[in-house]
Amino acid sequence: MEHIIACGDTLELIKSVPEKSIDLLVTSPPYWAKRVYNGQGEIGSEETPELYVKRLACFFDELRPYLKPEADVFINLGDTYFGSGAGAWNKYLDENGNITQAQRDRKEKYFTTKPLQPKIKQNGRLYRNKQLLLIPSRFAIEMQDHGWLLRDDIIWQKPNRIPASVTDRLNNTYEHVFHFALNKKYFFNLDAIKVPSASGGMKNPGDVWAIKTQPLKGNHTATFPEKLIEQIVLCGSPRGGTVLDPFLGTGTTWVVCQRLGRRCVGFEINREFFDFARERFDDSCQSVQFRIEDL
Ligand SMILES: C[S@@+](CC[C@H](N)C(=O)[O-])C[C@H]1O[C@@H](n2cnc3c(N)ncnc32)[C@H](O)[C@@H]1O
Repeated sequence: MEHIIACGDTLELIKSVPEKSIDLLVTSPPYWAKRVYNGQGEIGSEETPELYVKRLACFFDELRPYLKPEADVFINLGDTYFGSGAGAWNKYLDENGNITQAQRDRKEKYFTTKPLQPKIKQNGRLYRNKQLLLIPSRFAIEMQDHGWLLRDDIIWQKPNRIPASVTDRLNNTYEHVFHFALNKKYFFNLDAIKVPSASGGMKNPGDVWAIKTQPLKGNHTATFPEKLIEQIVLCGSPRGGTVLDPFLGTGTTWVVCQRLGRRCVGFEINREFFDFARERFDDSCQSVQFRIEDL
């Protein structure tokens, strides 16, 4: 299986991919104002949630020509509260917009426990301390406005979520995974992900998926659990098909594609994550071979 994996900006690298060649796009973009991955101007550092969802939808519009007409798109997105932490994004960047040395030296350098919200003035309406911003919903509506067909709002429920210290609201234990199509007719292999029913047959798994988070070594804390991507790759792409992850991160989609016989096209702008993904892929290939030999 020949994968296409490269380090750089997806919107540049995608130009080398043939048009209408992707069966499935599955990804998790940088969330709004949560982490500094690369520096000034990166996706997630927009002034407001409204600007973020617009930019993100435009990003996916640019990938549209590379998708087959029957392609599926699955996008995982989590939400953010307004105001909590309210540290300025700039605290983590120097005057040239590069990540500061102090930030680089942190153990979890790409992860901040408090959202890095730019300084937006409260307006007593949406911009109000403690407000849940509903960013995933805003994004899904923006995508609909851009002509994408929303088919599912899957709830990825995390049974092993660490209890939060909050006392005036509930602990958040889920994220959204939106399933979009370009057209009414699209590839979907429901049989591949059916689950046993009480009557002994097999049934539709429904749209709430309980899947534990899967920590990895290193600095990348926003990783997909492999199980989540397995489900999506199985129902959203044919065997031998091509799967694009435009925010490859630590390479979860790549590893899963290799295991399930799909070709992965994956791009990652951060050199450290890219190198990590390569190592992880090499390790996982060895374990796949072992498994085959064991059979
Ligand atoms: C939420 S993480 C993805 C995590 C991934 N799902 C995993 O399992 O590891 C988002 C990633 O997108 C990368 N990224 C941000 N902007 C990018 C761009 N324009 N092109 C390519 N990668 C980008 C970031 O460096 C970050 O690693």
